Amino acid sequence: MPSLLVTNIGELVTNSSDYGPTPLGILKDAAILVESDRITWVGTAKSALTISADELVDAKDSAVIPGFVDTHTHLVFAGDRADEFEARMNGNTYDAGGIMSTVTATRTATDDELRANLQRLVGEANSSGTTTFECKSGYGLTVDDEARSLKIASEVTQETTYLGAHVIPKEFAGRPNDYVSLVIGEMLDACASYAKWIDVFCDRGAFGPDSTREILRAGIAKGLLPRLHANQLERGEGVQIAVEFDAASVDHCTYLSREDIDSLASSNTVATLLPGADFSTRSPYPNARALIDAGVNVALATDCNPGSSYTTNMPFCIALAVREMHMTPAEALAAATLGGAKALRRHDIGHITPGARADFLILNAPSYLHLAYRPGVNLINHVLTAKGK
Ligand code: NIG
Ligand code: FE
Repeated sequence: MPSLLVTNIGELVTNSSDYGPTPLGILKDAAILVESDRITWVGTAKSALTISADELVDAKDSAVIPGFVDTHTHLVFAGDRADEFEARMNGNTYDAGGIMSTVTATRTATDDELRANLQRLVGEANSSGTTTFECKSGYGLTVDDEARSLKIASEVTQETTYLGAHVIPKEFAGRPNDYVSLVIGEMLDACASYAKWIDVFCDRGAFGPDSTREILRAGIAKGLLPRLHANQLERGEGVQIAVEFDAASVDHCTYLSREDIDSLASSNTVATLLPGADFSTRSPYPNARALIDAGVNVALATDCNPGSSYTTNMPFCIALAVREMHMTPAEALAAATLGGAKALRRHDIGHITPGARADFLILNAPSYLHLAYRPGVNLINHVLTAKGK
């Protein structure tokens, strides 16, 4: 079993109270032993002097943090929407309607074109420190195009999400119930074997509360696990529905009522905040402070998609969360790692402790603080990733 010792770590973020006060559980002058694909030991660099390993990496006093867990992406698509972004920056407002232009481009792309674009984005994400990511369908919106989107996504991640309920496609205009029947019938049958999760865009211009419940119920009956897009464009029932279904996560949460925050606080549902989308649509940011202060579990994700948030970069989202959403740098890093793991209901990622997957990052910086302190600078020196998806 090949082993690797990473030593002379100036600041190790473990995300575990076994090594220091949470949220980050920081250990100074630390070392990590990796055997096969798992972390098997964490301790001080001094005590690591007695350990012999097949390979030795000297972190030269820099910081080491868990790999980022990006729990919300839409990476299977063709084309881009730079024109729509330009129009928005000139004063247009974002609505769900733009999704259809990506649907048109995606339907005409070949599998290989979709695969190549996906690989390009996965490469970007990996090089900026993302070691686990979720990926949704939702730009096909026909039985075949949703199924092939998920099949292609499943080649790169186990965290695949069926989002046939992204918007009502043009050919179903005026017949929303017929589209919902397709989503919960033939389309679900074709997609279920490639998907782990089911998601619905429950918001203005997309799906209402009754359809959302119906679609989640159908997905759950097929063995899929619920997560939700909700409260991005206006207040609504989405957050309550997520809690009612014990969804792993409810994503966006830009417009919340006090009741929404209280329901989340007494639930197992993570509020996943997507500041890249609020940035790129020039929308208000979610009230992260109210959520955290109420005790809600919070995650940060990119929402990478060609419309509302065309970034794969988790450090950028951390910087936005700190500067614009008033999260502390520690809260933001915890949300981008352990928070993401919770939003995927995973215990093997998001922390650096014995037993966890060996997914971690050596930074080109002495402290994780530099992620928000030096926005836009690539501080990822080295990405260690366990094999497998
Ligand atoms: O999460 N909100 C719905 N879906 C995406 C946007 C997709 C698009 O605009 O193409 C989101 O922001
Ligand atoms: Fe999204």
